[in-house]
Amino acid sequence: MCGIVGYVGGGSVYNVLINGLKRLEYRGYDSAGMALVSPGGDLHVYKAKGKVSNLEDFCADKNLEAVAGIAHTRWATHGEPSDSNAHPHYSEDGELALVHNGTIENYQLLKDALAQHGCKFHTETDTEVLVQLIEYIRTTNECELVDAVREALNQVVGAYAMAVVEKGNPDTIIAARKSSPLVVGIGDDETFLGSDGTPFIEYTNKVVYVDDDQIAVIKRGEPLKLINLKGSEEKVNVKKLELSITQLEKGGYPHFMLKEIFEQPNTLTDSIRGRIVEGGRRIILNGVMDHKDKFLNANRIIIVACGTSWHASLLGKQLLQDMCGIPVEVEYASEFRYSNPVITPRDIVIAVSQSGETADTLAAIQIAKSKGAFVYGVSNVVGASIPRETHSGTYIHVGPEIGVASTKAFTGQVLVFTMMALAIAQIKGSMEQKDIEAVAGCLLRIPDLVKETLRLNDDIQRLSLIYTYARNFLYLGRGYSYPVALEGALKLKEISYIHAEGYPAAEMKHGPIALIDSEMPTVIIAPKDHLYEKIVSNVQQVKSRGGSIIAIVTKGDTTIRELANHVLEVPDVPECLTPLITSIPLQLLSYYIAINKGKNVDMPRNLAKSVTVE
Ligand code: F6R
Repeated sequence: MCGIVGYVGGGSVYNVLINGLKRLEYRGYDSAGMALVSPGGDLHVYKAKGKVSNLEDFCADKNLEAVAGIAHTRWATHGEPSDSNAHPHYSEDGELALVHNGTIENYQLLKDALAQHGCKFHTETDTEVLVQLIEYIRTTNECELVDAVREALNQVVGAYAMAVVEKGNPDTIIAARKSSPLVVGIGDDETFLGSDGTPFIEYTNKVVYVDDDQIAVIKRGEPLKLINLKGSEEKVNVKKLELSITQLEKGGYPHFMLKEIFEQPNTLTDSIRGRIVEGGRRIILNGVMDHKDKFLNANRIIIVACGTSWHASLLGKQLLQDMCGIPVEVEYASEFRYSNPVITPRDIVIAVSQSGETADTLAAIQIAKSKGAFVYGVSNVVGASIPRETHSGTYIHVGPEIGVASTKAFTGQVLVFTMMALAIAQIKGSMEQKDIEAVAGCLLRIPDLVKETLRLNDDIQRLSLIYTYARNFLYLGRGYSYPVALEGALKLKEISYIHAEGYPAAEMKHGPIALIDSEMPTVIIAPKDHLYEKIVSNVQQVKSRGGSIIAIVTKGDTTIRELANHVLEVPDVPECLTPLITSIPLQLLSYYIAINKGKNVDMPRNLAKSVTVE
């Protein structure tokens, strides 16, 4: 989703901004732009629909001399993707230029009021309303830009991360956030701004995470100042950015998605490190240990998440119920927040989010907190809003996920849920120690078994050629394999644009079975687990209706081999760990089908990596 970059300092402002925008491309966008303030105080705005490379072409013959600048990638919400709707937006008098992520909910009200004062609007965006409001206040009150920003933000309802520069004020950026990420990078006599740390990682690893309702005053030659919406100064906490530049490169793979699929043996090892110790005898998750009483006394756990994280949460539910005997519900964060949920202080709400910035999940957290629940976060991005808003939590530690389709974050989330369930079971005594050790011991072997599963790559690439032009797919699974089916279907549809549905296999006969014919391939996730016999009969039901079957089975399975058109054999693991293995071939299958179709797998159409608006 939209990204912000900013820079004040002695380096090449244009280069920092354009390279920073390229780093943010993974978030998804449809236009890009920048505002440059020259040493003499001139303000220039350049913008272009489409890729950052279009902006580069547009800027080729422009005046790029600057000492400060802000830049933006826009993912359209108000108004179509176009040159004019791209950010930055000028105030009508051309004195200010502003970039903004998020949504100003009361923009129409503010727009009408400004129009009555004679303001004219040139775009359909809520962002233009914000810049006009700031400029109206600045000129009417004859105040400093920072005071005008503060006054304007006090009138705004909605979510934003914004940055604004001013003509004649060549070394200052004023930035602010509410429910949308914003990070300041502190260099030597230079300061950076980003939606995350990726635009400036090669320049500094010292960062300040701007909090909700804080305004950052960035001035060359002066220390960063943070003020709140009442105007009082707040403490600046400098943190270390946990990111390296190699993590942001493709490392020889043609796409980030393939790199991230193949990274999983390492990311799972990183996630396990220091958490399963003494060969599996002890599980150490500080987030759980530090709040032992909450988990011991919990009446119920409610997990809130979106998309792939919601699928991982369905697995979290099964793991927590099976191992800890605590009732668990899983809700889409977007539904939960508007459902008037009944929550008591003895409920635990777990919010799951790779980016840690998903707007609906953040809103669900606020509701849970307001009702007195203990809120636990499972996130990947260190320092993101969700880990900061929750009472405690666990990072999945799988490194930056750049491909829009989530792969390594999914297995990281499932792994963390498994470790959480084991850790809680250990403190609750809900599982025998020998059983905990058996599962934890197998978990330690999972990275190697994922590596073994990845050897299916060439078979899957060949198989993908047969199904590239299928128009629909059905994915079926039962028990632990049902969320895997949902996730497999989501992966396929989001990057190949083929319609795919995931279903609990037994539900098939209540409707979807009508769809089955020779044109409808069915992917069946059928490892040897306690529902194996049941799923064999589901395989038979598909076969007897002429459907073609791709089955994911446990090594050595002969029964399904006789029924299915294609089988992909995966290593045998305990039932509760099967999703960590069976999801791998599905990731590869969707990747290769999308590649065969010539799709942009890392940046599929209409999708954003970090969904910071409702
Ligand atoms: C699918 C995918 C999305 C995200 C969803 C939630 O591959 O990546 O469905 O899972 O947008 O994002 P996070 O986990 O960042 O809250």
